[in-house]
Amino acid sequence: MQPIVRVVDIWKQYGDEGQNGIALRGTNLEIKPGEVVALFGKSGSGKTTLLNLIAGLDRPTKGRIEVEGRDLESIGESGRTDLRRRRLGFIFQFFNLLPTLTAYENVYLSLELLGRRDQKSAKDALAAVGLEGKGARYPHELSGGEQQRVAIARAIVKEPTLILADEPTGNLDTTTGSQILELLQHRCQKHKMSLLMVSHTPLTWKFADRILHMVDGVITEPASCTEITR
Ligand SMILES: Nc1ncnc2c1ncn2[C@@H]1O[C@H](COP(=O)(O)OP(=O)(O)OP(=O)(O)O)[C@@H](O)[C@H]1O
Ligand SMILES: [Mg+2]
Repeated sequence: MQPIVRVVDIWKQYGDEGQNGIALRGTNLEIKPGEVVALFGKSGSGKTTLLNLIAGLDRPTKGRIEVEGRDLESIGESGRTDLRRRRLGFIFQFFNLLPTLTAYENVYLSLELLGRRDQKSAKDALAAVGLEGKGARYPHELSGGEQQRVAIARAIVKEPTLILADEPTGNLDTTTGSQILELLQHRCQKHKMSLLMVSHTPLTWKFADRILHMVDGVITEPASCTEITR
């Protein structure tokens, strides 16, 4: 089976800072269709850098990244933008909702950008994350957990093949964080989406098929969960 993501010997150096500017040092990763992968690692170890590269938001210094078999370098900027819009969903730590749009409009925009003026799908996605009746609220009128649900609805409404989530529960209490992860896992299973999720919290373990550890710009597969906690 072709992986959704294949990262081969990726290096990323920012600017001209010599050794200090090297964020990724020859890392490899494969994610299968429908797989939920959690990525742990200390601050500054390169997790967000990796997500940005897979999303085609930035380019590696060296190495190869394929999403659904397409080499990100050879499809060019417009190909990467198109892939990101159609095939990828994002969820961030600080929700990143547009403050001047309602919850519903935030979700609908994601479809509109694809030329799909599909009000029903936007409403259904909000209902799927338990926000029926709150679509008319602006982000500041929602709790943190509710805002993250809108962000999930916005990501899943496109039915992407891959969701990239950067500390999606980082700003939520443990109970709300658990609910959000459960919801994400459930939506991914239902729509056979893969999920690559950065998280510092051990909470994530039970929601992941595989747990990876990033250390100084290289991914390692920990032998056990206790290895991560050390
Ligand atoms: N735009 C940038 N320009 C220069 N250096 C950068 C840039 N973005 C990240 N870095 C550096 O690259 C390294 C990896 O950063 P990255 O943001 O990927 O870490 P992270 O694992 O996501 O950390 P955190 O858990 O704190 O979010 C860090 O040393 C950081 O200072
Ligand atoms: Mg980060």
